[in-house]
Amino acid sequence: MSALLNLQSLSVSIGDTSLLEDVSFTLERGQILGLVGESGSGKSLTALTITGLLPLIGGRITDGRILFDGVDISRLSETDRRKLRGGRIGFVMQNPMTALDPVQRIGEQIDVVSRLHLNLSRKDARARTLDLMAQLRIPEAGAVADAYPHQLSGGMKQRIVIAMALAGDPDLIVADEPTTALDVTVQAQIIQILTTLVRERGLALLLITHDMGVVAQACDRVAVLYAGRLAEERAVDPLFRSPAHPYTKALIGCIPREDLDAGELHGIRGSVPNAANFPPGCRFHPRCDNAMDICRTTLPLIAPLAQDGAVACHLAEGGPT
Ligand SMILES: Nc1ncnc2c1ncn2[C@@H]1O[C@H](COP(=O)(O)OP(=O)(O)OP(=O)(O)O)[C@@H](O)[C@H]1O
Ligand SMILES: [Mg+2]
Repeated sequence: MSALLNLQSLSVSIGDTSLLEDVSFTLERGQILGLVGESGSGKSLTALTITGLLPLIGGRITDGRILFDGVDISRLSETDRRKLRGGRIGFVMQNPMTALDPVQRIGEQIDVVSRLHLNLSRKDARARTLDLMAQLRIPEAGAVADAYPHQLSGGMKQRIVIAMALAGDPDLIVADEPTTALDVTVQAQIIQILTTLVRERGLALLLITHDMGVVAQACDRVAVLYAGRLAEERAVDPLFRSPAHPYTKALIGCIPREDLDAGELHGIRGSVPNAANFPPGCRFHPRCDNAMDICRTTLPLIAPLAQDGAVACHLAEGGPT
């Protein structure tokens, strides 16, 4: 059986600016792939590309393909893209408030998805909505269905957005920072709900986050983006045990640890370069402690690692020395 989602050397531009380059990864059914990287690394752009929303922000695919269940979806018509999104591909957008209509009752907003994508009657759609809400452990589902978005807490709204993403019976869910705005306890509940859905239903989940703690806890594989390019892609355990890319290592170093004082917490020095002004060579080299001469001049291409996964670093196994 082919992978459910397979990005092949995907490149994306908005106007003249190249924002994603040569991004490849694979997501199997029943798996969670974490897509990580600092702000501005291209995570949301990847999500918008997979869900067919890129044209809405004036972007276009300049190279590569997106295979979904073996079919190239990178050049579908607008009609077919809309059919796929909300149907076989559910999307949890970065900001739940933009996904919810403030003047429509919650239940109706979920109902419409299954009416549209599964052709359910009004009555069957509502039954499905209430069932989904129960699965997402939303108490008093009937009352919540009659409420408006502003009457709900942030955590509840995020569950509603997930219910909307599930209502069309998707095979793939793309969740862009589904827990970022929530407090730690609610965050853990939402991640738990998503993981259970994946394991029980054989869904595939592309989980976008900048939280490496969430990645370690929930993901099977990890794709690390830096400045629009893939730095590393691997199974979660080896990635945390022996990161192949200095950027991955730095991200792992940023996870807060209980055994360290707050003063010892550290981010990565410097910042992600602007897309209009990427440095020559490896885009990470100005921030890299291990940079060599070649890193300043030659862009490292993504190359397979011996065991599993891939890395784009001159220092790594198989690269030039
Ligand atoms: N509509 C747009 N027009 C022009 N540039 C854009 C647009 N959307 C995103 N970008 C640029 O694309 C790059 C990647 O942005 P993206 O939103 O994908 O980052 P991200 O990894 O999701 O960051 P965050 O963690 O802040 O959500 C950034 O340099 C950003 O400035
Ligand atoms: Mg984003």
